[in-house]
Amino acid sequence: MDRDILKVGVFDDSTDLFEGQYKIPDGITYNSYVIMDEKIAVMDTVDKNFVDEWLSNLKKALGGRKPDYLVVHHMEPDHCAGLSAFLKEYPDVAVVGSKRAFSMIQGFFGDCVPETIEATEGGTLSLGSHELRFVMAPMVHWPEVMMSYELKSGSVFSADAFGSFGRPEDFDEWDEQADRYYFGIVGKYGAQVQSVLAKLAKFDVKAILPLHGKVIEKEIDRYISAYDRWSRYESDRDGVLIAVSSAYGHTMDAARLLSGYLGDRGVKDVVVADLNRDDMSSTVAKAFRYDKVVLACVTYNGDLFPYMREFLDCLVERNFKNKKVGIIENGSWAPVAGKLMEKRLEGCAGIEYCPTRVKITSAVNLQSISALSALADELKG
Ligand code: FEO
Repeated sequence: MDRDILKVGVFDDSTDLFEGQYKIPDGITYNSYVIMDEKIAVMDTVDKNFVDEWLSNLKKALGGRKPDYLVVHHMEPDHCAGLSAFLKEYPDVAVVGSKRAFSMIQGFFGDCVPETIEATEGGTLSLGSHELRFVMAPMVHWPEVMMSYELKSGSVFSADAFGSFGRPEDFDEWDEQADRYYFGIVGKYGAQVQSVLAKLAKFDVKAILPLHGKVIEKEIDRYISAYDRWSRYESDRDGVLIAVSSAYGHTMDAARLLSGYLGDRGVKDVVVADLNRDDMSSTVAKAFRYDKVVLACVTYNGDLFPYMREFLDCLVERNFKNKKVGIIENGSWAPVAGKLMEKRLEGCAGIEYCPTRVKITSAVNLQSISALSALADELKG
């Protein structure tokens, strides 16, 4: 990283639910950066529970100097909560952000910003030897979002994009924590991600500095390619996700049998996810990444079991598409889960159903075993 760009962010290992919904057993970082030059720019703040720690980090980094600008890339509270405390500490700072950011500042904090600089597409801010060029990134992940490209270092301050859960040093592979972040937080906005990737393609990007997780400094193309595939809704894992919602275990029995049959047929990457118990956001990310998904569900109160409903809602909300899908349904007297799962996905483009729909009436029997075997044949290719 450019030696004049300093990290002043914090690590949160105490919050149970990020955004009030995502479990984060490995924690999350709220990244903030300072560019030290003739003028000093602070890039974003942090979550409300870490403002004091962040201000202390910032003070150390500043070494007795005062910042000139606070650049606001994103106004979600995990990044903006320290804004008013920061302005109390440094009242002469000008706040730089998109037009929408300032209306959100008003909404969150009222009139607390003495001086504003509105950033626009392609606009620049010179700090001395460093210069920021602004890239608007609406809906990646909120409408006010922008990125900054710093010309001297080739650094992109990418807001939520390229972010990941966890603490980077705890994970070997970025995508272990980044796919769940992408598909959970940004996944609905593939078209907008494509739009900003096209803008970034015009820059010589040497580093990506997101608001969460790892600073990316090597193999930049690999990370950009991952975001390109994900935002195109292209699967990047050749295998089968079997997503199961089972009441008493019989539907799960079928899923495990299918997993074994796929293994027998040479399919190496098969994952059985228990929707009732496994982390939902991890399974959602897998559903987008695997090229084949099997939905296995018991009928319950004439509807789907609740966890399958939630799972399918998550997929549909995030524009699930371009997938080969297998169906396993169960029901002791009137199985309708298969029909209902297909109905829930009927607005999704590019869904190719396997011809065999496996029907179980209570427990797996010879007939359903034969159907599971046929389904494995259809999925193995
Ligand atoms: Fe990390 Fe959309 O906030």
